[in-house]
Amino acid sequence: MTQTQKILVTGATGTVGRQVVAELLARGHAVRALTRDAATATLPAGVEVVQGDLTEPDSLIPALEGVTGLHLITFGGPYFAPLETGPRILELARAAGVRRVTVLHGGGPSLLEDAVRADDSVDWTVLMPVEFMANALEWMDGIVASGEVREPFVSRLSAMVHEGDIGAVAAVALTEEGHGGQEYVITGPELLTVGDKVAKLAAVCGREIALVELTEEQAVAQWRAAGHPDDVIGFLIEAYGNTPEVGRTVVDTVEKVTGSPARTFGQWAAEHADAFTATDPAATA
Ligand SMILES: NC(=O)c1ccc[n+]([C@@H]2O[C@H](COP(=O)([O-])OP(=O)(O)OC[C@H]3O[C@@H](n4cnc5c(N)ncnc54)[C@H](OP(=O)(O)O)[C@@H]3O)[C@@H](O)[C@H]2O)c1
Repeated sequence: MTQTQKILVTGATGTVGRQVVAELLARGHAVRALTRDAATATLPAGVEVVQGDLTEPDSLIPALEGVTGLHLITFGGPYFAPLETGPRILELARAAGVRRVTVLHGGGPSLLEDAVRADDSVDWTVLMPVEFMANALEWMDGIVASGEVREPFVSRLSAMVHEGDIGAVAAVALTEEGHGGQEYVITGPELLTVGDKVAKLAAVCGREIALVELTEEQAVAQWRAAGHPDDVIGFLIEAYGNTPEVGRTVVDTVEKVTGSPARTFGQWAAEHADAFTATDPAATA
């Protein structure tokens, strides 16, 4: 165990940030969590919750006081709108004496990520996870309501990663030596099709789940109906219809960095079985 350090986690109420928080706490570190709304944020006991907004970098000044490490996201609003304030955030972090920074790569160009990479006064690590296992939560309503998953490109292979493992890699990089200047692609331990994932969910839920393959046009219509903007839909079609090699190649980053094997989708499914077996409120109304 390394000495206790205090780390500021941004995006702390989000899918990955929550896991960064949990993994830091599990390693005995002190966590300060940034949120735009401290009154409503729910975070584990012992976490110091601070209010601030990454689009207004000077609001981070009190939050940065006394921290040795900083976990950053690259977006500042709905649909992951890229942050324009990266250089100022880094300037403030340097002034506060932050020594280690992790950045959750957003898949596209980022002023914040550029500023981090250009900063030789901190040990920075860029976290480049592939598809999150948590994306399967989008299937929850369909499974609960009708026992169906409706997806396009069902044969695509994905090395999807447990978000807890992204958190674990971040926690190590933020608190231990040897991870500065690194870009870590982070994957799960196996390649799975959509059908493989549905089968594993069905097994842990103890019920049948039908996989209905959508055409690209049907998928676009489904995502539009769910309110996704066209650029996000275009991104999903490209990512799922033409998954880049990095998204379908297993690498051993999790085990190398954390010393523990990457968690499987079967483990993830077991952890979330309750959500997928909840009673459909519409059926019982
Ligand atoms: N889904 C995937 O398969 C996948 C794969 C690889 C990479 N990624 C990348 O992962 C990122 C998404 O991570 P996630 O799913 O963990 O996000 P998320 O669950 O949507 O969480 C969003 C977080 O961002 C915080 N936030 C948003 N705007 C903010 C602002 N202006 N100031 C301060 N905090 C702000 C929110 O905090 P409050 O609301 O509490 O303020 C919240 O904690 C994206 O960059 C995406 O490209 C996703």
